[in-house]
Amino acid sequence: MRSIALTIIALFGYTIALADGFGIGHGPYLQNVTEDKVTVFFTTSAPSFAWIEVESDGWVEPRRFANSEAGLLDAYTKSYSIEINGLERGKQYRYRIVAKEMKEFRPYKITYGDSIATEWERFYTTDSKAKECSFVIINDGHDNAGKVRTLLEKSQLSSANAVIYLGDMISYSEREDVPYNGFIDLSTELFARNKPFIAVRGNHETRGNMARRYKEYVGTHEGRFYNIYYYGNTALIVLDTGEDKPDSHPVYGGINDFDSYRNEQALWLQQEIKSKRFRQCSNRIVLMHIPPYITGNHHSEQHAEKELSRLFTPIFNKAKIDLVLSGHTHRHIDIEPDGDERKFPIIVNDNNSVIDLKLTKEGIGVTITDKDGKVTLNKKL
Ligand SMILES: [Fe+2]
Repeated sequence: MRSIALTIIALFGYTIALADGFGIGHGPYLQNVTEDKVTVFFTTSAPSFAWIEVESDGWVEPRRFANSEAGLLDAYTKSYSIEINGLERGKQYRYRIVAKEMKEFRPYKITYGDSIATEWERFYTTDSKAKECSFVIINDGHDNAGKVRTLLEKSQLSSANAVIYLGDMISYSEREDVPYNGFIDLSTELFARNKPFIAVRGNHETRGNMARRYKEYVGTHEGRFYNIYYYGNTALIVLDTGEDKPDSHPVYGGINDFDSYRNEQALWLQQEIKSKRFRQCSNRIVLMHIPPYITGNHHSEQHAEKELSRLFTPIFNKAKIDLVLSGHTHRHIDIEPDGDERKFPIIVNDNNSVIDLKLTKEGIGVTITDKDGKVTLNKKL
């Protein structure tokens, strides 16, 4: 699949979605924002042909983006993720969705229904020259969008570059609306039309008969959930820590393969930390749902913690990681560096608190606020 900028065609006759007619189902929400591209996710309420129009100061006319694969544009679908590329760093853009309902799709005749266009929304590309950046971090929401809303309201959301959902935002997925109800619709309402969220996969996002479709909801890097995001002089390493118990545990029925997937990520990270871009960063943060540390869970659930500690501690030491942020335990744990064994601190956030992470040239600020608005940790690293 590739995303292409199409030649603009005549634009007329669009209407905003009607409440009971054809319209947008979920989104739009932004994913994978970098210096030169962004991906817009959305669904339509009925099968459609949809695209994104983008405008920017200095452009003569809007540019049109749609997915094209082997000569066919994405169509007769309700679910879209469209990459907008060829952008400039640290610049503001405006975008809107245009969609045409496809009432009938026969071999030699397509019948379109209503056409709609959404309001124009703003976003910014990231900026490698930025002096500081900040993030809001929430984990272990477990389908409780009300709690996530409360925590977002207690955070510094308006000044943050992005929200990081650090795993287990749902408990398991057996219905198409679970990720939307758990955190995506709320994010769209509060911020995600204009700034992205980064969805770090937790063990619960791997559960349920729809877990294999999770990438239809959140941005991935070449189909995988691990990646490095760069914001100014900060590197955010996102790891996908998999299930907590061994792959052979009976509850997984023999269909999990997380040991080899964690190994794959370790090999990948060993290469990534050699890059010039990474080495130039003065703030190096790791985001991983399950911590690389034995926290004292039931012995079968310690499997991932042991494996993550064994695989990643030497790499993090070598990479001069400043801070690892995790969730999973539903309780706060502050783990100091341990001499030459583990040269980085780990902060495990509980399931009822929000982290405001601020990164500047001077260092890293971590503020944790609980859902009653009480600041429980304020730390400079
Ligand atoms: Fe978890």
